[in-house]
Amino acid sequence: MSANPQILQILPDNAPFTLEQRTWLSGLFAGLLGLDQAVTPLSPAEAAALVPGLLPAPAGPADESPITWHDPGIALAERMKLAEGRSVRMQLMAAMAQQDCGQCGSSCEEYSGQIFDKKEPRLNLCVPGGKDTSRMLKKLLEEVGAAASPLAADVTPVAGAAAGRSRDNPVTATVVSCTLLNRKGSEKETWHVEFDLTQSGLDYVVGDSFGLMPANDQALVDAIIAALDAPPDFPIGGRTFREVLSDGVSLSPAPDMLFQLYSYVTGGERRQKAKTLSAGGDPDGDAESLDVLAAIEKFAGIRPDPEAFIEALDPLQPRLYSISSSFKAHPGRVSLTVDAVRYKIAKRQRLGVASTFLAERAAPGDKVKVYIQKAHNFGLPADPAVPIIMVGPGTGVAPFRAFLHERMATKAPGRNWLFFGHQRHDCDFFYEDELNGMKAAGVLTRLSLAWSRDDKDKFYVQDRMRQVGPDIWSWLSEGAHFYICGAVRMGQDVERALVDIIVEHGSRTADEAIAYVADLKKRGRYQTDTY
Ligand SMILES: Cc1cc2nc3c(=O)[nH]c(=O)nc-3n(C[C@H](O)[C@H](O)[C@H](O)COP(=O)(O)OP(=O)(O)OC[C@H]3O[C@@H](n4cnc5c(N)ncnc54)[C@H](O)[C@@H]3O)c2cc1C
Ligand SMILES: NC(=O)c1ccc[n+]([C@@H]2O[C@H](COP(=O)([O-])OP(=O)(O)OC[C@H]3O[C@@H](n4cnc5c(N)ncnc54)[C@H](OP(=O)(O)O)[C@@H]3O)[C@@H](O)[C@H]2O)c1
Repeated sequence: MSANPQILQILPDNAPFTLEQRTWLSGLFAGLLGLDQAVTPLSPAEAAALVPGLLPAPAGPADESPITWHDPGIALAERMKLAEGRSVRMQLMAAMAQQDCGQCGSSCEEYSGQIFDKKEPRLNLCVPGGKDTSRMLKKLLEEVGAAASPLAADVTPVAGAAAGRSRDNPVTATVVSCTLLNRKGSEKETWHVEFDLTQSGLDYVVGDSFGLMPANDQALVDAIIAALDAPPDFPIGGRTFREVLSDGVSLSPAPDMLFQLYSYVTGGERRQKAKTLSAGGDPDGDAESLDVLAAIEKFAGIRPDPEAFIEALDPLQPRLYSISSSFKAHPGRVSLTVDAVRYKIAKRQRLGVASTFLAERAAPGDKVKVYIQKAHNFGLPADPAVPIIMVGPGTGVAPFRAFLHERMATKAPGRNWLFFGHQRHDCDFFYEDELNGMKAAGVLTRLSLAWSRDDKDKFYVQDRMRQVGPDIWSWLSEGAHFYICGAVRMGQDVERALVDIIVEHGSRTADEAIAYVADLKKRGRYQTDTY
């Protein structure tokens, strides 16, 4: 990046920010620009474009903006500071993880609005926000008084959408196949999973995500039953204890309520520890590692009633996966590209619930509860002639495989350029034959690859982008849409590389390049799906 030496003030004096916001924004911009300090003042419009919702919205209550916290890169405590003095609705929104990922069923703004309007009683739906978000939501609602709290039992969840179109109203799909995409020698385990949708009547468009209800690992369920020394067939609401543990509750992070339960049924030092844990404290420095089984083992010997135990757990949540197929190319089918999450804590192997459910527990012919989560601002350009640049390392390639299949099926004349990367060329090149085939057929105009672990030094998709910067600039100048899918951090680094490319090859200053990208975003020409 071309460093700009004339630093110190990035925001104009009359920009509508508090000192705190100003300091934070300067740090953000300096970081984005790769500078130690800030550069020439940005216009409020440029600043607003860089941070969504930064400036007051033209219409709406003054209290509702600027939404300076709507950025997944800002920590919860900082977001809450930025939201200080705002309405409760806005503070509830600031407590969300700001990814607009759709796992709660909508956007951060919609979910917080539903909680505020008492249409949504569940405070634990923000998956990326996790326990920190649900604790903050609870605290905010308690602050405005129990009477105003939507936790009251008579509140019913938001009315369900059409069948198969919402997490609250799933339909059934059939597993067709599950194929490993990595080859021997890989450190990764990524699966291509196919479902048959014909009986469900579902369809989708490329860019949408697929939601599914997983089941827990049976070995973990057995271990929990054994650790509690509880009867597996204990009746709970018409089902057995084992059945509810299998697919009704989350066995991952131990919820505050479970520690609360332990604090009620034990005494002395253990009671104090349980109380501290239930309030988000960490008396023994192991709170992060406590899934449900580890919590039971920590309070070994205590045998809560199975029904009370189940009530203290969180419901098992659905998981979302980017759709990697096109309904137009393969009607009645949907495919996913799933990285199996496995890691070890204190000698015990932990399993990501849904990813390992798909990888090892769901067999061909099995029925799974599923739904389509519509994409917000992530999809192909309406004009099939518009060129597209797609950056999707790892499983981030999923929606772009769908885009390419769609463009092939619809004979779209637009040029397509894919940046794909992963750890090693020889074992982590997903869909290699297919992508090479599409390249040979002219559907994939360019395929640019980056292997991070083939050489001594890391080499990422954004490093490849910098090498071909003039061509990226030329595609953008010709109206290309730019897409990123994959990890949040990668998305931020790719955006920074794009700004650099625009500075270098588009003859813009850093501010102008940032404003250029902001303008692309505003026009829907820069779309991201990062988590
Ligand atoms: C819109 C959207 C699209 C998505 N698309 C895809 C996709 O195409 N492909 C894909 O693979 N995923 C995708 N995901 C992610 C996916 O939804 C799941 O989050 C992912 O598969 C993990 O879920 P799980 O149930 O297997 O793991 P979980 O049971 O939810 O466990 C994951 C959790 O385990 C913990 N964890 C993980 N690794 C470690 C570690 N090394 N050490 C300590 N703790 C750890 C973290 O707390 C992490 O949040 C998408 C997510 C969204 C929101
Ligand atoms: N659509 C989605 O929601 C989505 C998409 C992607 C991933 N995920 C989640 O993320 C997890 C891992 O994903 P994955 O298997 O796709 O691969 P990944 O582990 O994210 O890695 C893919 C490639 O990106 C590289 N990389 C790491 N940091 C980067 C950065 N800052 N900039 C550019 N490239 C970077 C990796 O290199 P090194 O590892 O060598 O550093 C690797 O070569 C999965 O559990 C999945 O659930 C979700």
